[in-house]
Amino acid sequence: MAESIPMSAPSLTDAERQAVMQVLLTPTLSLGPRVAQFEKAVADYTGARYAVAVNSGTSGLHLCIIAAGVQPEDLVITTPFSFVASANCILYEHAIPILVDVDPLTGNIDPALVKEAINDLNSGGIAAQRWLPPALRHSRKKAGRLKGILPVHAFGQPADMAPLLQVARQCDLVVIEDACEAIGAEYLGRKAGTLGDAAVFAFYPNKQITTGEGGMIITCHPAWDALFRSLRNQGRDVFGAWLDHTRLGYNYRLDEMSAALGQVQMARIQELLNARAQVAGWYNQRLAGLEFLELPHIVATTTHMSWFVYVVRIKPPAHRNTVMRLLAQTGIPSRPYFTPIHLQPFYRERFGYKFGDFPITEALGDTSLALPFSSIMTENQVEIVCQQMRTALIDAL
Ligand SMILES: Cc1ncc(COP(=O)(O)O)c(C=O)c1O
Repeated sequence: MAESIPMSAPSLTDAERQAVMQVLLTPTLSLGPRVAQFEKAVADYTGARYAVAVNSGTSGLHLCIIAAGVQPEDLVITTPFSFVASANCILYEHAIPILVDVDPLTGNIDPALVKEAINDLNSGGIAAQRWLPPALRHSRKKAGRLKGILPVHAFGQPADMAPLLQVARQCDLVVIEDACEAIGAEYLGRKAGTLGDAAVFAFYPNKQITTGEGGMIITCHPAWDALFRSLRNQGRDVFGAWLDHTRLGYNYRLDEMSAALGQVQMARIQELLNARAQVAGWYNQRLAGLEFLELPHIVATTTHMSWFVYVVRIKPPAHRNTVMRLLAQTGIPSRPYFTPIHLQPFYRERFGYKFGDFPITEALGDTSLALPFSSIMTENQVEIVCQQMRTALIDAL
């Protein structure tokens, strides 16, 4: 049995532990100064005008959908090759995710297909039908308004934003970046998250920086900043009285312990991103040239990769699930990543999706395998995973 190697692990030092302890020595566990300090750290780092902390990436995405003015039955374009929250946040407002297949190299939404979808949806009729979820096609009801695009920077690699922003500008669509996996990434020299109307980072413990649970919205719109602050705090206006609720809001607040942890992690972000890049480099060196294996593709527009996960593709005749099972037998964890959104039981049932609807996403979903990965992984651990991987690839035939 190999030494126990976790799928992911946060990098925590005495600085993080002390920062959380400092909060616990005060009576202010929520609505204190740490949240604002953490927000400033993320705004300074990304160059965003405004940063608003929330208690998860999912709640951040939900608030962006509200700020974008998405109404029931509206349409928002997103990708089926993502974590389910990217599409769920659209459903929370009773709107309809329009799924568009991805680029086979990056797994990010394909801008040419997005353009085609927008043209078809705007022209209506038969052309529009094919982009709607199967269960909603052929309905007598007129399709809703197309409101926005929600690209995802999958695995820490930015989506191809230039053509998406261009078509969004032409067609007056809002762009919300799901940057939950991509803090620190750069697209043509610009930080992921600063390209659209708003973006969300997430801080679950497997992420590049963590707060336990948590997220951060960034935006360039002052009105959205104020709205996010109200919505996360039960619809109170920022300077309103405690019991005055101006709008329907939520408790999406980040607590002070999490914010203190996040502040220290932000102070260490470069070190953490460098460590992840080094681990990815060790994997790349050791797995290069192996038969039946495809390594991650980093495209030219990605001027800085923010390694969130290390995902390889298993090529036929080797089979991903067999490789995963063989690795597990030697104590090495690995995960299929992503399972396509449209094939999740809830999406199949509600929208009538089936295998075959998004072939590129499905091919990636069938072959992708996330290997153990974190900023504290050692070269020796990578070596052990790679040794087992070589054997598994042969035994999987
Ligand atoms: C692409 C993507 N979107 C959204 C989320 C949701 O973030 P959270 O788990 O913090 O709600 C995640 C988190 O894993 C993610 O990877």
